[in-house]
Amino acid sequence: MLSGKRIILGVTGGIAAYKAAFLLRAYQKAGAEVRVTMTPAATKFVGTDTFSSLSKHPVAVDVFPKNNTTVDTWTKHISWGEWADLFVIAPCTANTLGKIAYGLSDNMLTATVLAARCPLLLCPTMDGEMYESPAVYKNLQTVQNFGYHILEPEEGYLASGLEGKGRLPEAETILEKSAEIIRKHQKNGPLAGKKVVVTAGPTREHIDPVRFISNPSSGKMGFAMAEAAQNLGADVTLIHGPVSLDKPADIKAIEIESTADLFEQVKNHANADVVIMAAAVSDFTPKNKYSNKVKKDKAESSIELEQTTDILSWLGDHKKDGQVLIGFAMETENLIENATTKLNKKKADWIVANTLTDEEAGFQSDKNKVHLLGRNGSAKFEGLKREVAQKILNYIFPDNT
Ligand code: CTP
Repeated sequence: MLSGKRIILGVTGGIAAYKAAFLLRAYQKAGAEVRVTMTPAATKFVGTDTFSSLSKHPVAVDVFPKNNTTVDTWTKHISWGEWADLFVIAPCTANTLGKIAYGLSDNMLTATVLAARCPLLLCPTMDGEMYESPAVYKNLQTVQNFGYHILEPEEGYLASGLEGKGRLPEAETILEKSAEIIRKHQKNGPLAGKKVVVTAGPTREHIDPVRFISNPSSGKMGFAMAEAAQNLGADVTLIHGPVSLDKPADIKAIEIESTADLFEQVKNHANADVVIMAAAVSDFTPKNKYSNKVKKDKAESSIELEQTTDILSWLGDHKKDGQVLIGFAMETENLIENATTKLNKKKADWIVANTLTDEEAGFQSDKNKVHLLGRNGSAKFEGLKREVAQKILNYIFPDNT
């Protein structure tokens, strides 16, 4: 969900400021791009260099920095406020909370709050007594009435040595909340209200309970397509073969094993608005499947195979009005020619063609290089699989709002 998202991380002057560095890394690991703004007080706890090195971007602190008076610097709060999908202030001190509640803009962080066009998440972090003070209580209510989101602090051991409610929640909790907020604000994406089915990973065709025919698909590209569709507001169902990837948050996932299972599930969801066949489907299955393990001294030296159903072709033949069918083509030679043949033969609307011969692409890689071929256009994308997946869907479903 956070893949490709732009986050402004606001860090204020509390002891938990050091945890913001780990939070930044967690956002990046989830695929988000992060820029950091700090209050001057926060820089007493952690240096700006830590955040600029990690975010690979200058850190905004003062509206009018001493050594730089370029327009780009003092208008950063405006451009960043427009750039971001989410502005997260973690930790948010009582002081900054108070300024936000009263609309003050005496540093880059508070100025950016006023300029932000994106949702705002505040993670108030302070000593328990301060958190329970009437002023903080009132300010929290005020900012909630502005429509800002609050992630309540957790109970536990505090820097003052006291126990109480005031600790910054774990990065994982902040990420989950961030994803939830972005999703809620995304109801307007080009796939909002659309049902999207994505198939991913390999299928396994069992010979007997302990042996099977399969392929090295990791499922990474299919999972990335599912998250990319969710990022555009779609209601996504992910049907996947055996993979060792974490299930994407908030995506309905159905696990299958064989091509026959996959076909069954695809038929159940064939009324979707968009079907993305990223699964590496086995073309053959053993004609005889043994229910007990075949002993090696009793085994035949050859296995008779039969073809599986071509699911994408079946979808092409049973396409409902307005449905968009996106297939993949994995080729080792004549990429464009073979992929174009698949596009036409399987009656797909788009084929994402990739080749195994490229070092920066392929089954297990985190990266991919693809040619997107369609009836109304074609394009080339490369990069991390999740970036490529997003580019593919952004190209097919442009946001015209
Ligand atoms: N596909 C499918 N059902 C199959 C085989 C493939 O739905 N039984 C889908 C894949 O999910 C992919 C597209 O068809 O979207 C192309 O798959 P690919 O393996 O590249 O091609 P094949 O059709 O299997 O043809 P070949 O193996 O001859 O290249």
